[in-house]
Amino acid sequence: MKRFKNKIALITGSSQGIGEACALRLAKEGADIILNGRKFDERGEELIAEIKAMGGRAEFLAADVSNTKDVIKLVHDAIDVFGALDILVNNAGLETKADFWDVTEEDYDLVMDTNLKGVFFGMQAFVNYCRKEKRPGTIVNMSSVHEEIVFPHFAAYCASKGGLKMLSRNLATELAPFNIRVNNVAPGAISTPINQDLLNDKEQLEKVIGNIPMKRMGTVDDVAAVVAFLASDEAAYVTGSTYYVDGGLTYHYEEQ
Ligand code: NAI
Ligand code: BGC
Repeated sequence: MKRFKNKIALITGSSQGIGEACALRLAKEGADIILNGRKFDERGEELIAEIKAMGGRAEFLAADVSNTKDVIKLVHDAIDVFGALDILVNNAGLETKADFWDVTEEDYDLVMDTNLKGVFFGMQAFVNYCRKEKRPGTIVNMSSVHEEIVFPHFAAYCASKGGLKMLSRNLATELAPFNIRVNNVAPGAISTPINQDLLNDKEQLEKVIGNIPMKRMGTVDDVAAVVAFLASDEAAYVTGSTYYVDGGLTYHYEEQ
């Protein structure tokens, strides 16, 4: 059974990493896909072809989600592409590393505008559309284990994902009367370009893996499977939740 037959999904930041896997997973299960990235690149083109080969429709909309006007336009354009929008996956995100005392306003703004402000106003545009058209909707926000646990030297990132935790909780309550569900997925350490430095540092990588009960990094497909569940009607009674995809990392405690 194809869970997303006749459904249209917008996935931000979907030309690599977790977003790409989410796009392919939803497409495999029958969804038409609006891909997004800051620029339309070769990978975007390949993904459109891959999705079309699966029998689905796909389009790429270049937009910088950290810019409020652009993210609102992205949602409006996405609705126009295939005439409707059912699923919004707010995946685009980034992190910058610095000691707290060295964090610049520029870095703070970049992280917060991408990971939180863009998500806020993208959701607002989607919700306004759903309300106007009296359509149900489902939103999955790519949070992180760091909506809950600390990540020293990534203060702005933690603030953005912590904010996303309460934003989703709040909207779940406010939007339930309109049949709009909002959930977060909180990946642990996943092998993607965001972790390239870690993946290149064998010693540090061993330490990180050593702290994960399942003793491995997660894969993008591990995350996409949970996104697909939350976006589907099988999760019809799930809203305001965070699903951890972290191999047990978040609640790991052992007497040393
Ligand atoms: P990635 O760096 O491979 O992918 C992020 C994508 O978002 C890229 O395609 C990038 O171009 C896009 N993006 C960034 N800023 C954008 C903007 N302003 N406008 C449009 N697109 C933009 O990283 P990854 O790992 O796939 O991350 C995806 C999401 O998952 C992020 O929100 C990240 O915080 C979250 N996450 C990742 C984890 C990991 O271990 N890889 C763990 C927990 C959360
Ligand atoms: C970060 C990764 C990190 C992971 C586990 C994610 O939110 O983006 O860099 O490896 O959390 O700490």
